[in-house]
Amino acid sequence: MADFTNEIKKRRTFAIISHPDAGKTTLTEKFLLYGGAINQAGSVKGKATAKHAVSDWMEIEKERGISVTSSVLQFQYDGYCINILDTPGHQDFSEDTYRTLMAADSAVMVIDGSKGVEAQTRKLFKVCVMRHIPIFTFINKMDREAMDTFELLDDIEKELGIATCPINWPIGSGKEFRGVFDRNSRELEIFSDTKKGTSIGEVEKVSIDSEEAKSIVSEAQFAQLEEEIELLDGASAEFDQEMVSKGELSPVFFGSALTNFGVETFLQHFLKMTTSPLPRMSDKGLIDPMKEEDFSAFVFKIQANMNKAHRDRIAFMRICSGEFKAGMDVFHIQGGRKVRLSQPQQMMASERHMIDIAYGGDIIGVFDPGIFSIGDTLTNSAEKFAYEGIPTFAPEHFARVRQVDTMKRKQFIKGINEIAQEGAIQIFQEFNTGMEEIIVGVVGVLQFDVLKYRLENEYNVEIRLEPLPYEHIRWIENEEINMDKLVGTSDMKKIKDLKDRPLLLFVNSWSIRMVLERNEGLKLSEFGRS
Ligand code: G4P
Repeated sequence: MADFTNEIKKRRTFAIISHPDAGKTTLTEKFLLYGGAINQAGSVKGKATAKHAVSDWMEIEKERGISVTSSVLQFQYDGYCINILDTPGHQDFSEDTYRTLMAADSAVMVIDGSKGVEAQTRKLFKVCVMRHIPIFTFINKMDREAMDTFELLDDIEKELGIATCPINWPIGSGKEFRGVFDRNSRELEIFSDTKKGTSIGEVEKVSIDSEEAKSIVSEAQFAQLEEEIELLDGASAEFDQEMVSKGELSPVFFGSALTNFGVETFLQHFLKMTTSPLPRMSDKGLIDPMKEEDFSAFVFKIQANMNKAHRDRIAFMRICSGEFKAGMDVFHIQGGRKVRLSQPQQMMASERHMIDIAYGGDIIGVFDPGIFSIGDTLTNSAEKFAYEGIPTFAPEHFARVRQVDTMKRKQFIKGINEIAQEGAIQIFQEFNTGMEEIIVGVVGVLQFDVLKYRLENEYNVEIRLEPLPYEHIRWIENEEINMDKLVGTSDMKKIKDLKDRPLLLFVNSWSIRMVLERNEGLKLSEFGRS
C-alpha cells in the first residue's frame, strides 16, 4: 500500500482567530508573502477592492465590506505545506466560525497590543479550549504604543485562563519598536526597514551577551530589556512542549504584521511547535493519519450558491487520512453509498482553483448535489467508520420568520431548510403547532440579514423577521420528560427542533437555574448534536 505519511507530516493546518481589526488579515497576508505565494503585500487582501478577493462569494459581503464565510488558504514555506483556515472577523459571526475551528489542528490568536484580549477572541478561544488544541499568541501592532508587556500577559492569563510563555520579548514599542529578544537563543533580532511592510526586510541577530548588543539599541532600551528579562525569567512559566500540545500553555510572540516585524520568526517557531495532522476520534476509536492509509474526511461546512449562475453547493471537508484524487469514488457513511467527489477545489492565495491531489490535513471543497450534511464522514477504508459529530452551537439570537407572500410557501420551506442544512441558521418550531410558525436561531445577528438576503435573492421569497427576546437555548436531554408537566418560568418558551426534540428558550440565565431547581432530575444541554 502507498505511504503518504511524508506528505502528511509536512502539513500544518491551523485557524487564525482574532477580534476584528487586530490584524488577522494583515498577518495572513504576510505569511503568504514569506511563503512566496504572493509577490507583494497588499495584493491578496489589502485595501478596498482587494480586501475581499478571497471570500467575495456572496454579494452581501461585498455590499457590507465584511467577510461572512470563512475561507481556506494553502501555501508552502520551508518544506511545510500550510493550510490556514480564516475565520470571519466580523463581530456577528456564525456557527461557521466555530465549525472551522473543528477542522484545525491548532489556532493562532492575534491580539492587538494596545487593546489586549477583546470580546470576540474570548468567544473563539473557548472553542479552542474545548478541543484542547494548541493555541499560539501573536501580539500585534507593536509599532504602536502598546500596553505594558507584563500587563498584556496577565490579561491573557486572567481573561482566558491559560498559562502563557513568551518565546520572544519586544524591544521597545511604538516608534521605538526595534525588534525582539529570542529567549531561547538569547539573541536580539533587530528588524530593518521593510518599506512599510511591502518587502521582507533583513533581520540582524546579535547575542545579548556581546558588546555589539549594547550599541545596537539605545542604552535605555538595553537596560530596560535586561531588567524585564530578569523579571520574566523569574515569573513566567517554562516552555513545555507537552503542555503546548495539550492547549494548556500558549507560546507568545510579539511583532507588527504591518511592518513585517517578527512575522517570520513567529512563523518559523510556530511551525516547529505546532503539530502535523492530529488523530481524530471516530466510532471505531482514534483514526491516526500516520497509521490509517485509506482516505477519510469529514464535512465541516456547506456553502450553497457560491456561484449564482450555477446554483452550486460546495461541501468543505477536512481530509483526516490518506490521499485524495480528483474524481475518486468514496463511501459516504451517512448516505450509505458510494459517491464520486467531483470538481475538487482549494484556495490558493487569492484564487479558487481545481486540484488533482490532496492529503490528510488538507481542506478541499467538493461539488455537493445536496447529499452531504455537516459532520458527515467519507472514506474508502474497508472497515467503515464515522468521525465524531460536530456539536451544534447554541444560538444566542432568535426571531420568528414569516413569508410576506403566503403563496410562496413551498419556496420558503425549501429555502429555509437548505440554508439551515448549511448550518448558517438553526430552525425550530412552536412546541404544539407544526411548521406554520418557524423560529430561527442564530449565533450572530448578521445571519438574520444573510437569511433575508439569500431567501430574496436565491429563492425569490420575501420574509419578515420578528425578533424574540430569548438569549439562551437548552436541549432537554432526558427523553422521558413529560413536557406538559414541566414547571417553567414566565419568560420560558417551549419549542422543538426539526427532529421533534424538545427545547427550552430563556430570556436570562437566572431562569435556567430556576427551571432546573423546579424540575428534579431535569438535564439540560447547551449543545445539540447535528
Ligand atoms: P482583521 O483582519 O483582524 O480585522 O484586521 P486587519 O488585518 O484588516 O487590520 C486592521 C487594521 O489594522 C488595518 O488598518 C491594518 O492595516 C492595521 N494593522 C494591521 N496590523 C498592524 C500592525 O502591526 N501595526 C499597525 N499600526 N496597524 C496594523 P486599516 O486602516 O483599517 O486598513 P488599511 O487601510 O490599512 O488596509
